[in-house]
Amino acid sequence: MTEPLIDLRDVSRRYDDGPPALHDASLTVWPGEAVAILGPSGSGKSTLLNLLAGLDRPDTGTVTVDGVRVDRLGEAAAARYRRSKIGMIFQFFNLLDDLNVADNVALPAQLAGTARGEAHRRAAELLEALGIARHGRAYPGRLSGGERQRVAVARALLNRPPLLLADEPTGALDTASGQDVSRLLRELNAEGQTLVVVTHDLALARSCTDRTVRIVDGRIVDGRIAEDVSAEMAR
Ligand SMILES: Nc1ncnc2c1ncn2[C@@H]1O[C@H](COP(=O)(O)OP(=O)(O)OP(=O)(O)O)[C@@H](O)[C@H]1O
Ligand SMILES: [Mg+2]
Repeated sequence: MTEPLIDLRDVSRRYDDGPPALHDASLTVWPGEAVAILGPSGSGKSTLLNLLAGLDRPDTGTVTVDGVRVDRLGEAAAARYRRSKIGMIFQFFNLLDDLNVADNVALPAQLAGTARGEAHRRAAELLEALGIARHGRAYPGRLSGGERQRVAVARALLNRPPLLLADEPTGALDTASGQDVSRLLRELNAEGQTLVVVTHDLALARSCTDRTVRIVDGRIVDGRIAEDVSAEMAR
């Protein structure tokens, strides 16, 4: 029997004295699904991704990803978990400014024990697929926002993680670059990679995902298909 890839149960997370950033959130994602998370600013979308990535812990509830109880991992185990299971594209790029583009992209593979040559070969392939091969030796500080985001996408894909988490992957991109990222995500999903994508970009949600989950004030409201939501927004 297939197990869910993500099983988030009754998760709450509150920062300081504020209202809960997530409130009794439950979400099941099956292997191979592509899910868009939509919701207003401050509704808890990044909080949700951080919990899935083991970068933060819930106050109550459980987070299980690919059979791992992520909410119970210590720091070192969480880092190992991220290297083996997760590719993450952050809302803000999180590139290392002291490494050139190719080294930034190859880094996760090298941390996971892949030989340098193999890591760089795969990094070059991804940079090519994203149309930024010519910037391999440049440092991130010299690149445009859109180029940096594509480097971040390449880095997240390097270890072929079973789960790709993306936080506004097209937020900083012009339309053409956004379409490159969108096409790549769609191809990866067609090859079986599971995607969870936080976005305000309905075109991205429509073209890359088969299901939409909406969060309002830290509560997961529903999980309709992207088509329904975009039809509603167009009205
Ligand atoms: N480290 C933190 N410390 C205190 N409050 C936080 C922290 N991180 C998030 N919050 C609060 O939790 C709530 C949810 O934040 P979150 O970043 O998950 O929202 P979001 O849906 O990703 O918003 P956006 O679309 O603007 O990125 C917000 O009210 C935010 O201010
Ligand atoms: Mg956010």
